[in-house]
Amino acid sequence: MTALPDLAAIEAMDAADGLRAMRERFILPEGLVYLDGNSLGVASKAAFTELQAAAAEEWGQDLIRSWNTAGWFDMPLTLGDRVGRLVGAAAGQTAVCDTTSINIYKALHAAMALRPDRTIIVAEAGSFPTDIYMAEGVVSTRPGASLRLEGVDAPEIEDLIDGDVAVVLVNHVNYKSGELRDMAALTQKAHEHGALVIWDLCHTAGALPVDLDGAKADFAVGCTYKYLNGGPGAPAFVYAAARHHGAISQPLSGWWGHARPFAFEKHYAAGEGIRRFLCGTQPILSLRALKGALDIWDEVDMAALREKSLGLTDLFIALVEEKCAAYGLEFESSREREKRGSQVSFRHPHAYEIMQALIARGVIGDFRAPSTMRFGFTPLYLRYADVWRAVEILEEILRTGAWQDARFAVRSAVT
Ligand SMILES: Cc1ncc(COP(=O)(O)O)c(C=O)c1O
Repeated sequence: MTALPDLAAIEAMDAADGLRAMRERFILPEGLVYLDGNSLGVASKAAFTELQAAAAEEWGQDLIRSWNTAGWFDMPLTLGDRVGRLVGAAAGQTAVCDTTSINIYKALHAAMALRPDRTIIVAEAGSFPTDIYMAEGVVSTRPGASLRLEGVDAPEIEDLIDGDVAVVLVNHVNYKSGELRDMAALTQKAHEHGALVIWDLCHTAGALPVDLDGAKADFAVGCTYKYLNGGPGAPAFVYAAARHHGAISQPLSGWWGHARPFAFEKHYAAGEGIRRFLCGTQPILSLRALKGALDIWDEVDMAALREKSLGLTDLFIALVEEKCAAYGLEFESSREREKRGSQVSFRHPHAYEIMQALIARGVIGDFRAPSTMRFGFTPLYLRYADVWRAVEILEEILRTGAWQDARFAVRSAVT
């Protein structure tokens, strides 16, 4: 085993980091080590500038005129193209709108409508729960449809795909373990059986490079408030491959998806391409914050981002395993770099209390029931020295038993 770097060596890694100037673009509270950008990304100066302009000038002064003069009406598609670029989607295939849950609903219906002679949705028991909940909702509206789950009906998702399957709904990076799937291989497997695939990219967008077009993905969804730093409740995105556009229908046929919304026609006529995934009026202030956040992403080299992400997670894993080996942490992520997203998880019977103790000491990660501590690594604003500091504090909390303080056992609504 190679020797671990000491703090001086770690500071030298920060000094040599090609992304280090990016940190200046964000608003980071003094003294905090923020390892929760996989849940809510931090604010940026650019997002605040956009919000201020949208509120004070466009809403405050220009009012209704801003729908035309400030590009409000087109924002779901203009921002969609910019998010699309970050996930390997050529222009015209991505829209920013609604929530990931709602976009899953639309994409599942669209996929099932493209495979009218098939009845099965394949998903993962270990996926983020909303994916399963939405699939259950879709099944409830389509007589004869049913759900097959990896982890319930077979151990591996690949074994569930056959000629009855209409669509596979799958998380690219698992929300709990951070495990990364091979997008091209699974998409190909589904296509060999005539099935379509919807990729949930919530923990991928802004975390690592991905190539939706190259992998021949059919649909994708994802959120913009995690690694993309769009802000709390920022709208999600939906991607549909151009080759499906002519035939796609989705049931939330609101006026924003209409071919001529301001003709106020009596009946629905689906708009061209990805526009038909829109439903109703979108949250403009949130979209404007996202616009600011995306300005930063225009300058990011995704290969460099991935390399630093892996450097941060490698270092965290090595330091935790060396310094905290005695305290019963169970590694829940992948040691293989090609199977690791940009987060690392450890299980512990008292994960909740330990995480609260960490937060009280200024190291913010989160807890996922029943026993997972998640640590997200965001290369644009994290330093290697932050990783060092987080592990020093974790070790101290475990060694001293500081987490046993009764206040750390009090459960909040959001964990
Ligand atoms: C993988 C995954 N899918 C979906 C969601 C939920 O998205 P939304 O609340 O935008 O519907 C999350 C939220 O954390 C997630 O991690």
